[in-house]
Amino acid sequence: MAFPMDRPATWFVTGTSRGLGLELVKQLLDRGDNVAATTRSTERLLSALGDVDTSRLLPLAVDLRDDEAVTQAVHQTSERFGGLDVVVNNAGYGFLAAVEETTDRDVRDMLDVQVVGVWNVLRAALPILREQRSGHIVNVSSILGLTAVPGWALYCAGKFALEGLSEALAAEVAGFDVKVTIVEPGYFRTDFLTTDSIALPAATTAAYPAIREMTAEHLRLQGSQLGDPVRGAAAIIGQVVSGDGPLRQLLGSDAHSYATAKVDALRANVEATAGTAPSTDFPAA
Ligand SMILES: NC(=O)c1ccc[n+]([C@@H]2O[C@H](COP(=O)([O-])OP(=O)(O)OC[C@H]3O[C@@H](n4cnc5c(N)ncnc54)[C@H](OP(=O)(O)O)[C@@H]3O)[C@@H](O)[C@H]2O)c1
Repeated sequence: MAFPMDRPATWFVTGTSRGLGLELVKQLLDRGDNVAATTRSTERLLSALGDVDTSRLLPLAVDLRDDEAVTQAVHQTSERFGGLDVVVNNAGYGFLAAVEETTDRDVRDMLDVQVVGVWNVLRAALPILREQRSGHIVNVSSILGLTAVPGWALYCAGKFALEGLSEALAAEVAGFDVKVTIVEPGYFRTDFLTTDSIALPAATTAAYPAIREMTAEHLRLQGSQLGDPVRGAAAIIGQVVSGDGPLRQLLGSDAHSYATAKVDALRANVEATAGTAPSTDFPAA
C-alpha cells in the first residue's frame, strides 16, 4: 500500500525541538497529518511551535539511547493515532575534532545517538510496518555519510554506519512494501553549526591547526548556509508522499557536487584496482 491519501498519515519524527525536525513537525501538522515528535525537551518543542495547531501532535520526551523508552514511545504513537505510516530518524549532531583528539566517551555518545538510537526506533517500528505491509523509513544522514573530510571523522563514522544500515534495510524490507530513504543534506541553515548543537573535543593538540581553522570557519558559517530548512523539510515530505524517488535523496547543490566528486573518485579507485583485485582469488581448478 502506498502513502495514505484518504486519511491523515501518522509520522514518528526524532529530534524535533529545532532545525529540520522542527520544520518537519510544523509542515506535517499544517498538512493535517498526525505527528509523534520525540525530543529531549517537550517544553522547548512546544515553545518553538508557538501558535501552531498542536491537536494532532504527540510530544514525547524520549532518550533515544534507551531501548525501552523508545519502544514505549512507538507503541504510544500507534495507540494514540491508531497506526504508524512514516518514521523519520532525524536526531543528530556534529562533532569537530581530529581522530586522536576524540575520546572513547565522544565516540560512544555519537554512535549511541546516530546508530544505537536509530536501531532502537527501527526495532520498535518495523514489526508494525512489516505486518501492515506498508510504511516508509526516512533516515537523515548527511553528505558526510557518503564522503569524509578531515576533522569530521566521528560524525562521518556515525553517518556512514547509518548509511550501511539503511542500505541493507532497504533491501531487507522491500518485499514487505516498506520503503527506505536516506536523506543526504549539504549545509542547511539550522542550529546545527551553533555552539548549542555542535560538540567540540575537551582537549586539543597543537598538531592540527588546519582543523582548528576549519572549526572556526564552520562556526562563522552559521546563518549563511546554502540550504533552506523549509525547502528541505518540504522536499523530504514530498518524496515520502509521492512514494517515488531514489534510495538516496541529496538535498542542496553543495551536497550534489560533493557526491559527484565522491562517485568520480570511487570509480577511479575501483578502476585502478581492476587488474590487481583478482590476484587474491584461488586459481580456477
Ligand atoms: N544542518 C546541516 O547542515 C546538516 C547537514 C547534514 C546533515 N544534517 C543532519 O540533519 C539532522 C537534523 O539536524 P539539524 O540541521 O536540524 O540540526 P539542529 O538544528 O541542531 O537540530 C538537531 C536535532 O537533533 C536532536 N539532537 C541533537 N543532539 C542530540 C543528542 N545528543 N541526542 C538526541 N537528540 C539530539 C535535537 O533534538 P532535541 O533537542 O529536540 O532533543 C535537535 O532537534 C541531523 O541528523 C544532522 O546530522 C544537518
